[in-house]
Amino acid sequence: MARRSMETVAAHVGEDLVPAATRPVSMPIYQTSVFAFPDLDTVEAVYKGDSDAFLYSRMAHPNGSALEAAVAELEGGESGLAAASGMAVINDVLCGTLGPGDHAVVTAECYGGTFGLFEGPLRRRGVTVTYVAAADAPSVAEAIRPATRVVYVESISNPTTRVADVPALAELYRERGLVLVVDNTFATPYLFQPLAHGAHVSLSSATKFLAGHSDVTAGVAAGTREIIGAARSYHTTTGATIDPFAAWLTLRGLKTLALRVQRHSENALRLARFLDGHGRVEKVFYPGLESHLDHSLAARLLPSGNGGMLSFVVGGGMEGANRFIRALKLCQFVPSLGDVGTTVSHPALTSHRAMSEEARLRLGITGGMVRVSVGIEAVGDILADFEQALAKI
Ligand SMILES: Cc1ncc(COP(=O)(O)O)c(C=O)c1O
Repeated sequence: MARRSMETVAAHVGEDLVPAATRPVSMPIYQTSVFAFPDLDTVEAVYKGDSDAFLYSRMAHPNGSALEAAVAELEGGESGLAAASGMAVINDVLCGTLGPGDHAVVTAECYGGTFGLFEGPLRRRGVTVTYVAAADAPSVAEAIRPATRVVYVESISNPTTRVADVPALAELYRERGLVLVVDNTFATPYLFQPLAHGAHVSLSSATKFLAGHSDVTAGVAAGTREIIGAARSYHTTTGATIDPFAAWLTLRGLKTLALRVQRHSENALRLARFLDGHGRVEKVFYPGLESHLDHSLAARLLPSGNGGMLSFVVGGGMEGANRFIRALKLCQFVPSLGDVGTTVSHPALTSHRAMSEEARLRLGITGGMVRVSVGIEAVGDILADFEQALAKI
Protein backbone atom coordinates (compact mmCIF):
# COMPACT_ATOMS: atom_id res chain seq x y z
CA MET A 1 0.00 0.00 0.00
CA ALA A 2 1.25 3.46 -0.83
CA ARG A 3 2.55 5.38 2.10
CA ARG A 4 -0.19 7.60 3.58
CA SER A 5 0.37 11.33 3.79
CA MET A 6 1.37 12.89 7.08
CA GLU A 7 -1.99 14.74 7.40
CA THR A 8 -3.98 11.55 6.85
CA VAL A 9 -1.92 9.48 9.27
CA ALA A 10 -2.29 12.18 11.92
CA ALA A 11 -6.08 12.40 11.49
CA HIS A 12 -6.52 8.64 11.95
CA VAL A 13 -4.04 7.72 14.70
CA GLY A 14 -5.24 5.17 17.26
CA GLU A 15 -8.26 3.95 15.29
CA ASP A 16 -7.05 0.37 14.91
CA LEU A 17 -7.87 -1.62 18.03
CA VAL A 18 -5.10 -3.96 19.11
CA PRO A 19 -6.40 -7.54 18.76
CA ALA A 20 -5.66 -9.60 21.86
CA ALA A 21 -6.36 -13.03 23.29
CA THR A 22 -6.48 -11.58 26.78
CA ARG A 23 -8.70 -8.82 28.13
CA PRO A 24 -7.77 -6.01 30.51
CA VAL A 25 -8.72 -6.58 34.16
CA SER A 26 -9.48 -2.90 34.60
CA MET A 27 -12.10 -1.59 32.19
CA PRO A 28 -10.56 0.68 29.52
CA ILE A 29 -11.70 4.30 29.48
CA TYR A 30 -13.68 4.78 26.28
CA GLN A 31 -12.60 8.35 25.70
CA THR A 32 -14.64 8.81 22.56
CA SER A 33 -17.56 11.11 21.84
CA VAL A 34 -18.97 8.91 19.06
CA PHE A 35 -18.79 5.38 17.59
CA ALA A 36 -18.14 4.36 13.97
CA PHE A 37 -20.73 2.24 12.12
CA PRO A 38 -20.10 -0.24 9.30
CA ASP A 39 -23.32 0.61 7.44
CA LEU A 40 -26.81 2.11 7.52
CA ASP A 41 -28.47 -1.12 8.73
CA THR A 42 -26.41 -1.07 11.92
CA VAL A 43 -27.24 2.54 12.73
CA GLU A 44 -30.92 1.93 11.97
CA ALA A 45 -30.98 -1.03 14.39
CA VAL A 46 -29.59 1.17 17.18
CA TYR A 47 -32.13 3.96 16.61
CA LYS A 48 -34.96 1.42 16.55
CA GLY A 49 -33.78 -0.11 19.82
CA ASP A 50 -33.01 -3.49 18.19
CA SER A 51 -29.31 -3.21 19.07
CA ASP A 52 -27.63 -1.97 22.24
CA ALA A 53 -24.49 -0.85 20.34
CA PHE A 54 -23.18 2.56 21.37
CA LEU A 55 -23.82 5.47 19.06
CA TYR A 56 -23.06 8.89 20.54
CA SER A 57 -21.58 9.38 24.01
CA ARG A 58 -24.10 11.98 25.15
CA MET A 59 -26.67 9.20 24.94
CA ALA A 60 -24.56 6.34 26.33
CA HIS A 61 -20.99 5.08 26.44
CA PRO A 62 -19.43 1.88 27.83
CA ASN A 63 -18.07 3.37 31.08
CA GLY A 64 -21.36 5.10 31.90
CA SER A 65 -23.38 1.98 31.06
CA ALA A 66 -21.11 -0.19 33.23
CA LEU A 67 -21.68 2.21 36.13
CA GLU A 68 -25.44 2.18 35.54
CA ALA A 69 -25.49 -1.62 35.56
CA ALA A 70 -23.41 -1.74 38.76
CA VAL A 71 -25.64 0.72 40.59
CA ALA A 72 -28.83 -1.01 39.43
CA GLU A 73 -27.48 -4.28 40.84
CA LEU A 74 -26.25 -2.76 44.13
CA GLU A 75 -29.56 -0.98 44.70
CA GLY A 76 -31.67 -3.88 43.42
CA GLY A 77 -33.28 -1.79 40.65
CA GLU A 78 -34.58 -2.82 37.24
CA SER A 79 -32.60 -0.05 35.61
CA GLY A 80 -29.85 2.48 36.39
CA LEU A 81 -28.88 5.97 35.27
CA ALA A 82 -25.58 7.83 35.70
CA ALA A 83 -25.21 11.59 35.32
CA ALA A 84 -22.64 14.36 35.57
CA SER A 85 -23.45 15.16 39.22
CA GLY A 86 -25.83 14.31 42.02
CA MET A 87 -27.89 17.39 41.20
CA ALA A 88 -28.03 16.38 37.51
CA VAL A 89 -29.47 12.97 38.35
CA ILE A 90 -31.97 14.47 40.84
CA ASN A 91 -33.05 16.90 38.12
CA ASP A 92 -33.30 14.08 35.54
CA VAL A 93 -35.50 11.97 37.82
CA LEU A 94 -37.74 14.85 38.92
CA CYS A 95 -38.13 16.42 35.47
CA GLY A 96 -38.76 12.97 33.99
CA THR A 97 -41.63 12.53 36.44
CA LEU A 98 -43.04 15.97 37.30
CA GLY A 99 -44.81 18.34 34.92
CA PRO A 100 -46.89 21.52 35.21
CA GLY A 101 -49.68 21.17 37.78
CA ASP A 102 -47.99 18.31 39.64
CA HIS A 103 -47.34 18.53 43.36
CA ALA A 104 -44.42 17.10 45.37
CA VAL A 105 -44.14 16.38 49.08
CA VAL A 106 -40.54 16.91 50.12
CA THR A 107 -38.71 16.43 53.37
CA ALA A 108 -37.69 19.82 54.79
CA GLU A 109 -34.47 18.16 55.91
CA CYS A 110 -33.02 17.79 52.45
CA TYR A 111 -29.73 18.88 50.90
CA GLY A 112 -29.79 22.64 50.23
CA GLY A 113 -29.19 22.13 46.49
CA THR A 114 -32.25 19.89 46.25
CA PHE A 115 -34.28 22.53 48.07
CA GLY A 116 -32.96 25.10 45.54
CA LEU A 117 -34.02 22.85 42.64
CA PHE A 118 -37.58 22.51 43.97
CA GLU A 119 -37.81 26.22 44.77
CA GLY A 120 -36.29 27.48 41.47
CA PRO A 121 -36.43 25.43 38.23
CA LEU A 122 -39.22 23.09 39.38
CA ARG A 123 -41.49 25.86 40.66
CA ARG A 124 -40.92 27.69 37.34
CA ARG A 125 -41.92 24.45 35.59
CA GLY A 126 -45.26 24.72 37.38
CA VAL A 127 -44.58 22.16 40.11
CA THR A 128 -45.87 23.01 43.58
CA VAL A 129 -44.13 21.75 46.71
CA THR A 130 -45.07 21.11 50.32
CA TYR A 131 -42.27 20.54 52.82
CA VAL A 132 -42.80 18.17 55.70
CA ALA A 133 -40.83 18.30 58.92
CA ALA A 134 -40.43 14.55 59.30
CA ALA A 135 -40.03 11.81 56.71
CA ASP A 136 -42.70 9.67 58.40
CA ALA A 137 -46.01 8.44 57.07
CA PRO A 138 -48.37 10.63 59.18
CA SER A 139 -46.60 13.91 58.20
CA VAL A 140 -46.48 12.96 54.52
CA ALA A 141 -50.10 11.72 54.50
CA GLU A 142 -51.24 15.08 55.83
CA ALA A 143 -49.42 16.93 53.01
CA ILE A 144 -50.71 14.78 50.14
CA ARG A 145 -53.21 16.37 47.72
CA PRO A 146 -54.99 15.02 44.63
CA ALA A 147 -52.20 16.52 42.45
CA THR A 148 -49.37 14.89 44.43
CA ARG A 149 -47.17 12.80 42.18
CA VAL A 150 -43.84 12.54 44.04
CA VAL A 151 -42.73 12.04 47.64
CA TYR A 152 -39.05 12.93 48.04
CA VAL A 153 -37.02 12.04 51.13
CA GLU A 154 -33.42 11.36 52.17
CA SER A 155 -32.83 7.96 53.78
CA ILE A 156 -30.51 9.69 56.27
CA SER A 157 -31.03 13.43 56.14
CA ASN A 158 -28.40 16.09 55.60
CA PRO A 159 -27.24 17.40 58.09
CA THR A 160 -29.49 16.32 60.98
CA THR A 161 -29.21 12.57 60.22
CA ARG A 162 -32.97 11.92 60.59
CA VAL A 163 -33.90 8.46 59.28
CA ALA A 164 -36.79 8.25 56.79
CA ASP A 165 -39.40 5.60 57.48
CA VAL A 166 -39.24 4.34 53.88
CA PRO A 167 -41.32 1.15 54.47
CA ALA A 168 -44.18 3.19 56.00
CA LEU A 169 -43.98 5.75 53.17
CA ALA A 170 -44.04 2.95 50.61
CA GLU A 171 -47.30 1.65 52.13
CA LEU A 172 -48.73 5.12 51.68
CA TYR A 173 -47.79 5.42 48.01
CA ARG A 174 -49.12 1.92 47.31
CA GLU A 175 -52.51 3.15 48.43
CA ARG A 176 -52.33 6.37 46.42
CA GLY A 177 -50.18 5.64 43.36
CA LEU A 178 -47.36 8.05 44.22
CA VAL A 179 -43.72 7.91 43.16
CA LEU A 180 -41.39 7.59 46.13
CA VAL A 181 -37.89 8.97 45.47
CA VAL A 182 -35.17 8.45 48.08
CA ASP A 183 -31.83 10.25 48.17
CA ASN A 184 -29.56 7.49 49.50
CA THR A 185 -26.30 9.49 49.48
CA PHE A 186 -25.52 9.27 53.21
CA ALA A 187 -26.53 5.62 53.68
CA THR A 188 -25.28 4.13 50.38
CA PRO A 189 -26.79 0.85 49.13
CA TYR A 190 -24.35 -1.02 51.37
CA LEU A 191 -26.32 0.07 54.45
CA PHE A 192 -29.79 0.62 53.03
CA GLN A 193 -31.62 -0.29 49.83
CA PRO A 194 -34.72 1.89 49.46
CA LEU A 195 -36.08 -0.16 46.55
CA ALA A 196 -36.22 -3.30 48.68
CA HIS A 197 -38.46 -1.31 51.05
CA GLY A 198 -40.84 -0.24 48.29
CA ALA A 199 -39.37 3.02 46.90
CA HIS A 200 -39.48 3.58 43.11
CA VAL A 201 -36.14 5.35 42.82
CA SER A 202 -32.99 5.42 44.93
CA LEU A 203 -30.56 8.12 43.85
CA SER A 204 -27.22 9.33 45.17
CA SER A 205 -24.56 11.92 44.73
CA ALA A 206 -21.80 9.49 43.71
CA THR A 207 -19.40 12.37 44.37
CA LYS A 208 -19.58 11.26 48.01
CA PHE A 209 -19.27 7.74 49.46
CA LEU A 210 -19.89 5.79 46.25
CA ALA A 211 -16.77 7.14 44.52
CA GLY A 212 -15.28 7.86 47.93
CA HIS A 213 -12.08 9.81 47.27
CA SER A 214 -13.15 13.43 46.50
CA ASP A 215 -11.80 13.15 42.98
CA VAL A 216 -14.97 12.95 40.89
CA THR A 217 -18.35 14.64 40.50
CA ALA A 218 -21.11 12.20 39.56
CA GLY A 219 -24.69 11.16 40.26
CA VAL A 220 -26.50 7.82 39.97
CA ALA A 221 -30.06 6.56 40.22
CA ALA A 222 -31.67 3.12 40.17
CA GLY A 223 -35.31 2.14 40.10
CA THR A 224 -38.22 0.91 38.08
CA ARG A 225 -37.80 0.67 34.32
CA GLU A 226 -40.64 3.13 33.82
CA ILE A 227 -39.35 5.95 36.06
CA ILE A 228 -35.68 5.54 35.13
CA GLY A 229 -36.72 5.35 31.46
CA ALA A 230 -38.51 8.70 31.76
CA ALA A 231 -35.49 10.18 33.55
CA ARG A 232 -33.16 8.85 30.83
CA SER A 233 -35.27 10.34 28.08
CA TYR A 234 -35.04 13.78 29.75
CA HIS A 235 -31.34 13.18 30.45
CA THR A 236 -30.25 12.35 26.90
CA THR A 237 -32.22 15.30 25.55
CA THR A 238 -30.79 17.81 28.02
CA GLY A 239 -27.32 16.25 28.11
CA ALA A 240 -26.04 16.12 31.71
CA THR A 241 -24.00 13.07 30.72
CA ILE A 242 -21.28 11.67 32.96
CA ASP A 243 -17.92 11.71 31.23
CA PRO A 244 -16.12 8.37 30.68
CA PHE A 245 -13.30 9.06 33.13
CA ALA A 246 -15.70 10.17 35.88
CA ALA A 247 -17.69 6.96 35.36
CA TRP A 248 -14.47 4.94 35.47
CA LEU A 249 -13.37 6.61 38.73
CA THR A 250 -16.78 6.00 40.29
CA LEU A 251 -16.64 2.32 39.31
CA ARG A 252 -13.19 2.03 40.81
CA GLY A 253 -14.43 3.60 44.03
CA LEU A 254 -17.36 1.17 44.18
CA LYS A 255 -14.97 -1.77 44.36
CA THR A 256 -14.14 -0.85 47.98
CA LEU A 257 -17.57 0.48 49.00
CA ALA A 258 -18.32 -2.27 51.52
CA LEU A 259 -14.97 -2.03 53.30
CA ARG A 260 -15.03 1.74 53.42
CA VAL A 261 -18.61 2.07 54.64
CA GLN A 262 -18.07 -0.51 57.39
CA ARG A 263 -15.08 1.48 58.64
CA HIS A 264 -16.81 4.88 58.18
CA SER A 265 -19.68 3.56 60.32
CA GLU A 266 -17.45 2.13 63.09
CA ASN A 267 -15.40 5.32 63.31
CA ALA A 268 -18.49 7.56 63.24
CA LEU A 269 -20.09 5.68 66.14
CA ARG A 270 -16.90 6.02 68.18
CA LEU A 271 -16.66 9.76 67.42
CA ALA A 272 -20.39 10.32 68.12
CA ARG A 273 -20.02 8.68 71.55
CA PHE A 274 -16.91 10.73 72.29
CA LEU A 275 -18.64 14.00 71.33
CA ASP A 276 -21.83 13.05 73.19
CA GLY A 277 -19.99 13.03 76.49
CA HIS A 278 -17.87 16.11 75.82
CA GLY A 279 -18.37 19.26 77.93
CA ARG A 280 -17.90 21.67 74.99
CA VAL A 281 -20.48 19.94 72.81
CA GLU A 282 -24.16 20.90 73.16
CA LYS A 283 -25.78 18.28 70.95
CA VAL A 284 -24.84 15.37 68.70
CA PHE A 285 -26.84 14.06 65.73
CA TYR A 286 -26.05 10.43 64.87
CA PRO A 287 -28.66 7.68 64.43
CA GLY A 288 -26.43 5.19 66.26
CA LEU A 289 -26.75 7.18 69.53
CA GLU A 290 -29.53 6.17 71.87
CA SER A 291 -30.42 9.85 72.38
CA HIS A 292 -31.14 10.28 68.63
CA LEU A 293 -34.80 10.85 67.75
CA ASP A 294 -34.81 8.00 65.23
CA HIS A 295 -32.60 5.56 67.10
CA SER A 296 -35.08 2.67 67.12
CA LEU A 297 -36.00 3.23 63.46
CA ALA A 298 -32.28 3.22 62.62
CA ALA A 299 -31.78 -0.01 64.55
CA ARG A 300 -34.53 -1.59 62.43
CA LEU A 301 -33.65 -0.13 59.00
CA LEU A 302 -29.87 0.16 59.27
CA PRO A 303 -28.77 -3.03 61.03
CA SER A 304 -25.28 -3.03 59.45
CA GLY A 305 -24.31 0.44 60.60
CA ASN A 306 -25.36 4.08 60.49
CA GLY A 307 -22.84 5.48 58.02
CA GLY A 308 -20.07 8.02 58.25
CA MET A 309 -22.09 11.22 58.68
CA LEU A 310 -22.74 12.96 61.98
CA SER A 311 -23.34 16.54 63.07
CA PHE A 312 -22.80 18.27 66.38
CA VAL A 313 -23.29 21.69 67.93
CA VAL A 314 -20.29 23.27 69.65
CA GLY A 315 -20.61 25.78 72.46
CA GLY A 316 -20.09 29.42 71.46
CA GLY A 317 -22.26 29.44 68.30
CA MET A 318 -20.74 30.45 64.95
CA GLU A 319 -17.59 31.80 66.64
CA GLY A 320 -17.15 28.54 68.53
CA ALA A 321 -17.51 26.58 65.29
CA ASN A 322 -14.98 28.84 63.57
CA ARG A 323 -12.45 28.42 66.39
CA PHE A 324 -12.95 24.65 66.32
CA ILE A 325 -12.47 24.46 62.54
CA ARG A 326 -9.36 26.66 62.65
CA ALA A 327 -7.83 24.47 65.36
CA LEU A 328 -8.23 21.13 63.50
CA LYS A 329 -4.93 19.72 62.30
CA LEU A 330 -5.72 16.37 60.67
CA CYS A 331 -9.31 16.91 59.54
CA GLN A 332 -9.91 19.48 56.81
CA PHE A 333 -12.81 21.93 56.43
CA VAL A 334 -14.34 20.73 53.17
CA PRO A 335 -17.86 21.60 51.94
CA SER A 336 -18.47 18.04 50.73
CA LEU A 337 -18.42 14.57 52.28
CA GLY A 338 -17.73 10.89 51.73
CA ASP A 339 -13.94 11.04 51.44
CA VAL A 340 -11.70 8.36 52.96
CA GLY A 341 -10.26 11.17 55.11
CA THR A 342 -12.29 12.85 57.87
CA THR A 343 -13.62 16.25 56.83
CA VAL A 344 -15.86 18.80 58.52
CA SER A 345 -18.32 21.25 57.07
CA HIS A 346 -20.55 24.07 58.26
CA PRO A 347 -24.10 23.51 56.93
CA ALA A 348 -25.43 27.03 57.69
CA LEU A 349 -22.69 28.67 55.59
CA THR A 350 -22.30 26.01 52.87
CA SER A 351 -24.74 23.19 51.96
CA HIS A 352 -27.81 24.85 53.51
CA ARG A 353 -27.20 28.50 52.77
CA ALA A 354 -29.98 28.50 50.12
CA MET A 355 -32.47 28.09 53.02
CA SER A 356 -33.79 31.04 55.03
CA GLU A 357 -32.28 31.39 58.49
CA GLU A 358 -35.71 30.80 59.98
CA ALA A 359 -36.10 27.49 58.12
CA ARG A 360 -32.60 26.43 59.13
CA LEU A 361 -33.18 27.21 62.80
CA ARG A 362 -36.45 25.27 62.75
CA LEU A 363 -34.42 22.20 61.73
CA GLY A 364 -31.73 22.85 64.33
CA ILE A 365 -29.12 24.02 61.80
CA THR A 366 -27.54 26.68 63.99
CA GLY A 367 -24.32 28.69 63.60
CA GLY A 368 -22.63 26.31 66.03
CA MET A 369 -23.46 23.19 64.00
CA VAL A 370 -20.52 21.35 62.47
CA ARG A 371 -21.14 18.41 60.14
CA VAL A 372 -18.55 15.65 60.10
CA SER A 373 -17.83 13.12 57.38
CA VAL A 374 -15.94 10.56 59.40
CA GLY A 375 -13.12 8.92 57.45
CA ILE A 376 -11.43 5.56 57.61
CA GLU A 377 -8.28 6.66 59.48
CA ALA A 378 -7.18 5.04 62.76
CA VAL A 379 -10.00 6.24 65.01
CA GLY A 380 -7.62 7.31 67.79
CA ASP A 381 -6.10 9.92 65.49
CA ILE A 382 -9.53 11.37 64.66
CA LEU A 383 -10.52 11.54 68.34
CA ALA A 384 -7.21 13.16 69.26
CA ASP A 385 -7.64 15.87 66.61
CA PHE A 386 -11.19 16.64 67.80
CA GLU A 387 -10.06 16.63 71.45
CA GLN A 388 -7.30 19.17 70.88
CA ALA A 389 -9.52 21.38 68.65
CA LEU A 390 -12.42 21.35 71.15
CA ALA A 391 -10.00 22.42 73.87
CA LYS A 392 -9.41 25.63 71.87
CA ILE A 393 -12.96 26.89 71.44
C1 LIG B 1 -27.52 14.37 50.23
C2 LIG B 1 -27.03 15.01 48.97
N1 LIG B 1 -27.71 14.81 47.83
C3 LIG B 1 -27.31 15.37 46.68
C4 LIG B 1 -26.18 16.17 46.61
C5 LIG B 1 -25.78 16.80 45.30
O1 LIG B 1 -24.70 16.11 44.74
P1 LIG B 1 -23.61 16.74 43.76
O2 LIG B 1 -22.83 17.75 44.55
O3 LIG B 1 -22.80 15.56 43.30
O4 LIG B 1 -24.34 17.41 42.65
C6 LIG B 1 -25.43 16.40 47.75
C7 LIG B 1 -24.24 17.26 47.72
O5 LIG B 1 -23.67 17.61 48.72
C8 LIG B 1 -25.88 15.80 48.98
O6 LIG B 1 -25.21 15.99 50.13
